[in-house]
Amino acid sequence: MYYDPDINDHGLPFNPIKGLVAPRPIGWISSISKDGVGNLAPYSFFNMLSYNPAYLMFSAGCKENGSKKDSVVNIEQTGEFVFNMAHWDTRTKMSDTSWIDDPKIDELLECGLTPTRAQRVKVPMVKEAPAHMECVHHKTVELPGHDPESVHHMVIGRVVMVHINDEFINNKGLVDITKIKPIARLGYMDYCAVDEVFSMKKRTVEEKLTPKVAAE
Ligand SMILES: Cc1cc2nc3c(=O)[nH]c(=O)nc-3n(C[C@H](O)[C@H](O)[C@H](O)COP(=O)(O)O)c2cc1C
Repeated sequence: MYYDPDINDHGLPFNPIKGLVAPRPIGWISSISKDGVGNLAPYSFFNMLSYNPAYLMFSAGCKENGSKKDSVVNIEQTGEFVFNMAHWDTRTKMSDTSWIDDPKIDELLECGLTPTRAQRVKVPMVKEAPAHMECVHHKTVELPGHDPESVHHMVIGRVVMVHINDEFINNKGLVDITKIKPIARLGYMDYCAVDEVFSMKKRTVEEKLTPKVAAE
């Protein structure tokens, strides 16, 4: 099958497009307003863009009235935010922080999470998260929509400090990802947790040219 995403003539009960780039990691983004009110929300249109120097981004749709979401407003006004890693143990609270729409309510406190101080930015980090990246706002790219609500703002941040809970660094000095069990968004209401990994080495030219290996 195929369909035009601007018309959405897929004929399926639900729009399948978000299930096609999966899993999508979750940027659990903390920020503060210019008046100092904290904010925390999950974004799965999120990813790292580079690592040296390190940049990451998330993309926010607009509110029903066409105004920017609170995370975007805060970051544009204060120039700072934090990526908190969402994992199996924080999955329910991560989801809870998406439902609060009132900019006067700090989702971090409201959802019973613990704020902890960052090093370079004033934005609190979620203590329960296994890793964090402090960011300064690099730029916002506006992605035109069909209507005011579907306009998206892609916020790009430059990472200025990285935190990893020591408990998740193994005795070889590697981040123990299956111990963290990060969660990611699939399509529909589905998520996955990383609890199994496989490694692959780059094959040598000789290996690529050996029919027996190539057939495996
Ligand atoms: C797992 C998850 C991922 C989400 N990803 C996005 C996203 O990528 N973009 C978006 O605009 N909203 C996303 N949302 C919805 C926002 O979290 C929600 O609108 C939130 O209230 C925004 O908060 P803010 O206005 O404080 O920034 C997501 C929700 C959940 C539960």
